[in-house]
Amino acid sequence: MRRPQRTNWIITTVKNVTTLLLVAGANLCFLMTPRAAAIDVQSPDKSITVSLTMRDGVPYYEVRRAADMVIASSRLGVQLRNGPGFDKDLVIDSHQFTTVDDTWQQVWGESKDVRDHHRQLIVTLAKKDKPSTRIEWIFRVFNDGIGFRYRIPEQEGLSDIELMNELTEFTMTDNHRCWWIGAYQYNRYEYRYTDSPLQETDKVHTPITFKAHDKLYISLHEAALTDFASMALHRRENNTFEADLVPWSDGVKVRGTLPIQSPWRTIQISETPGGLIESPLILNLNEPNKLKDVSWIKPGKYVGIWWEMHLGKATWGSGPKHGATNANTKRYIDFAAEHGFDGVLVEGWNTGWDGNWIENGEKFNFTTAYPDFDIEMLAKYARDKNVRIVGHHETGGAVENYERQVEDAFKLYQRLGVRAVKTGYVAHAQEIVRTDKDGNKHKEWHHGQFMVRHYRKIVELAAKYQIMLDVHEPIKATGIRRTYPNMMTREGACGQEFNAWGGEATQNKPDHTTILPFTRILGGPMDFTPGIFGVTFGEYQPGNRVSTTVAKQLALYVILYSPLHMAADLPENYEKRLDVFQFIKDVPTDWAETKVLDSLIGDYVMIARQDRNSDDWYVGAITDENARELTLNLSFLDKGRTYTAQIYRDGDNANWETQPYEVAIESKQVKHGDSMKIKLATSGGTAIRFKAN
Ligand code: NOJ
Ligand code: CA
Repeated sequence: MRRPQRTNWIITTVKNVTTLLLVAGANLCFLMTPRAAAIDVQSPDKSITVSLTMRDGVPYYEVRRAADMVIASSRLGVQLRNGPGFDKDLVIDSHQFTTVDDTWQQVWGESKDVRDHHRQLIVTLAKKDKPSTRIEWIFRVFNDGIGFRYRIPEQEGLSDIELMNELTEFTMTDNHRCWWIGAYQYNRYEYRYTDSPLQETDKVHTPITFKAHDKLYISLHEAALTDFASMALHRRENNTFEADLVPWSDGVKVRGTLPIQSPWRTIQISETPGGLIESPLILNLNEPNKLKDVSWIKPGKYVGIWWEMHLGKATWGSGPKHGATNANTKRYIDFAAEHGFDGVLVEGWNTGWDGNWIENGEKFNFTTAYPDFDIEMLAKYARDKNVRIVGHHETGGAVENYERQVEDAFKLYQRLGVRAVKTGYVAHAQEIVRTDKDGNKHKEWHHGQFMVRHYRKIVELAAKYQIMLDVHEPIKATGIRRTYPNMMTREGACGQEFNAWGGEATQNKPDHTTILPFTRILGGPMDFTPGIFGVTFGEYQPGNRVSTTVAKQLALYVILYSPLHMAADLPENYEKRLDVFQFIKDVPTDWAETKVLDSLIGDYVMIARQDRNSDDWYVGAITDENARELTLNLSFLDKGRTYTAQIYRDGDNANWETQPYEVAIESKQVKHGDSMKIKLATSGGTAIRFKAN
């Protein structure tokens, strides 16, 4: 590593120089202006520049892309309780540059190979009057955006810290259109996205995605959230957001012992909306895989005793309508085995569901089954058919109860051959009970440091017992799956279930799934649970339905990335349409490559992905409430070979409101360079398998 350069003398001595370009070593340059001295760092392709400046002892950064200012001058700073403030009276002590160009492989994912090519700048700031008091700001600049974090190194007189405030700003250059959900809301991340000018926001969750103009899309989020408060954003004034760290119940934002570092604050930048989806920036900012043996981690598809509870056909709790019975579970296992599914999720199998389980999460027992569910027999029944039970741990947000039992619960599942567990944290905002060492109870957010630590602990423990996780009511996805590839998928947005019971007020609208890939899913995979064929529910849940055509449900398997995808509907609904069901049976959940072919946020999306285990390609295209025609250019197919396109599209008369069921299935021979017209009905879709001949 290069020796840090001392730069404070330059800044003070060149204040009056108009522009000075100083090159020291191959990759070091300072650009000075009368305004202030700046340290610049550029992306490898030189399209993106980050400049760090000091003004009156306060650090600022700005981000440009080609001719565009992406983030105008924005403050950086951290305030501690009973410690030095890292927000003012600072000088640059030293800085250093490094360049990385590395390609690594995902255990599973949207693409196999990921290139991490960036330039890094580490700037060390010291207190003017006490140079041994230091904070580092680290910037990584990629061709697809930037990440930056701060690190408070070990230093004299400071050990355990309480971080009270992060002053990081994101100054957008105009009142951009953006897609967002509010933070600190009752239902956690489970809200419909709002599409509005940014000045209509207040406190928002990330990712929040902006359209600055036709050729500039920006998304703010964070990466590698491991032992910190999660970052919401608070719009302070005009177009400026400030980091808003979700506090502990006593108002402290983050507790820790030095050295401590923040997650990366990320700014993805792209000329096209699809470029945001293709960007691996969040993954590149996470630590490499820590698990030595990954042979037990297997992406796949599952069915389950689940939708019938959401429809009200069955219950989680005991009684005449109990869903998790021996007979019903066998029926699902038989169905899974017949159609080649890897898993059968069973919810409501363990005691604790009776009564108001949301209020009484401490009643859940994770090793005791209801008497009508013979877990040993059923796990064996499944294994004998080459199917595995997908375990379920609903905690009701009572995490202390869960932590007391979880190790035994994972041991039980491992012994039974269960490979994946779906967890759940249904509790309303700021209702997670924490007991302190004196026995006092406190209520915490799902998104504060207390819960970030809990979620992380469970991922690590699951890895110890070779268990893959699917987390509902999770902490947001920030790329931890790279470090712990058993962290497969999670909810963290309105999933399919909102269509079962949400009613008009919360039901997903036709554009919902055309927004998710550009917002929530930029953080990582989502367990949306697509595949509802019975889109109107007949006797169940009157007043509810899915705002979709059936063909769109197929396309979602390609559009909404998840390494574990559910075929969410009732087996009897699939049995009626086995021809259409074939696509769900065929579609993989692990890809060699992903290309976003065409998209507009909130309007439509068309994505091509190549299967990691064959030469086949799959395409999904979906639209919002408007019917439309797209052109699909087959330039992604291999040259010199032919493919059979197995097409599942909206029938000629289909529309989501009155004719959602009509699916046309066609087959034709195609090759590289051909093009196809894709006609989408209102809230419709097309799903295509290109089977290599
Ligand atoms: C909410 C989850 O999102 C849903 O999938 C699950 O069925 C219920 N909690 C019960 O655990
Ligand atoms: Ca949920």
